[in-house]
Amino acid sequence: MSKLRKLHVKSFGCQMNVYDSNRMADTLAPAGFAETPRADDADLVILNTCHIREKAADKVYSEIGRIREMKEAAAREGRRMVIAVAGCVAQAEGKEIARRAGVDLVFGPQNYHRLPDLLARVERGEKVVDTEFPVEDKFDALAAPTRKAIAKRGITAFVTVQEGCDKFCTFCVVPYTRGAEVSRPVEKIVAEVKQLADAGVREVTLIGQNVNAYHGPGPDGRAWSLAALLHRLTDVPGIARLRYTTSHPRDMTDDLIAAHRDLPALMPYVHLPVQSGSDRVLEAMNRRHTVAHYRGIVARMRGARSDLAFTSDFIVGFPGESEDDFRDTLALIEDVGFAGAFSFMYSPRPGTPAAEMDEQVPQEEKSERLQRLQALIAARQHAFNAGFVGRTVDVLLEKPGRYTGQLVGKSPYLQPVTVTASTSRIGEVVPVTITDIGTNSLFGTLAGQSRRHAPEQAFVEAGA
Ligand code: SAH
Ligand code: SF4
Ligand code: F3S
Repeated sequence: MSKLRKLHVKSFGCQMNVYDSNRMADTLAPAGFAETPRADDADLVILNTCHIREKAADKVYSEIGRIREMKEAAAREGRRMVIAVAGCVAQAEGKEIARRAGVDLVFGPQNYHRLPDLLARVERGEKVVDTEFPVEDKFDALAAPTRKAIAKRGITAFVTVQEGCDKFCTFCVVPYTRGAEVSRPVEKIVAEVKQLADAGVREVTLIGQNVNAYHGPGPDGRAWSLAALLHRLTDVPGIARLRYTTSHPRDMTDDLIAAHRDLPALMPYVHLPVQSGSDRVLEAMNRRHTVAHYRGIVARMRGARSDLAFTSDFIVGFPGESEDDFRDTLALIEDVGFAGAFSFMYSPRPGTPAAEMDEQVPQEEKSERLQRLQALIAARQHAFNAGFVGRTVDVLLEKPGRYTGQLVGKSPYLQPVTVTASTSRIGEVVPVTITDIGTNSLFGTLAGQSRRHAPEQAFVEAGA
């Protein structure tokens, strides 16, 4: 491995891939790998891939082609570039990827801790494919980031607390690519969050494919809920804000709803995918809840904290979705008043039950529905943002803005907010009076004293 020194990791797909990419870089750092933002001069390129929709998977194959050209150019200069493919496409289509010219290593999401060993085998001239689901806990063997690495990544961080999915929605590949649901132990998560906070991180987003199904072993030997974990994490000094994503409506328990009332550090912004506003479609998707159940949760959560805002994911053109079903989805969007949403045309995925269903919706219809849905969401999002003009919200100042003297931070609702303030204030939570809105961002002016260690007050302000 002595010749390999520059590492380029490219992430596709969800936030868990971003987290995993960082952990892979951390694990390779002790072996002498430093990250480079450029692929062409790297000794090792890792593509961390996503299999969720056909387009996402296609992108991987074209990216492999692009990197292979760089590899050939490097070879002409006498340099060796190793190409590794990780992530969900690697898990699902490992053998197919390994057949592509130029690829040296293919490994799935449950094998990242083996990376140094796998690379050693590549160095010995082997072509390696590892898509097993091992019994050992990969998190135990993945190296922690250095203080410097944490600081470089900014003052907000993701922490995986739960991985995998047992829900088997009929459209989705995740249960096959990530495996069964596993929750990390409470103490390991607390230690990781403490380490991040010590290095300057102020906001942590707990991530999992079904994060609210979290049931990790606690120090008392019992399974802790996500709510219990959130309570524990509010004690970590320096952490001003907590978030979690992605939740499933079936796992939105009473204690988690109460946590939104009781924990000021828990931000009032919840991503709660519903996929469709039609019971018929929800049933065919095997979501195992009704639209009324979803509406009920939203109402109960707003009862616990009135300033909560919701975002969601939607799939249009699921097999059998009629115009009436689709209108039910639009009605749900109107009623709930989402602050934003991700929306997708249904994409048949190999090995999933929905791909085999009759009544696939024609492409033009899917595309037409997507446009209508996105127009509605965009209008909703604009209205949500416009409602902030004249209000004062807490902003966590994150980094320098586009122009000198400006900082960009985030509101409790993850809206980017630009404000004039000195860089020494990065990391502070400050009240900002919103004066103007852009396409997807807000502009404001500092509204008085900052409160470095009192997120409690943030709740009072944001709720006012
Ligand atoms: N675990 C989360 C979401 C995981 S995937 C949940 O249960 O909600 C992220 C989003 O991708 C999903 O919410 C869904 O809207 C979309 N998605 C998943 N499979 C898809 C497919 N086959 N076609 C189109 N969109 C899909
Ligand atoms: Fe996929 Fe459904 Fe699991 Fe979400 S809950 S990851 S959509 S199978
Ligand atoms: Fe994609 Fe895998 Fe995440 S399929 S969305 S990278 S869990």
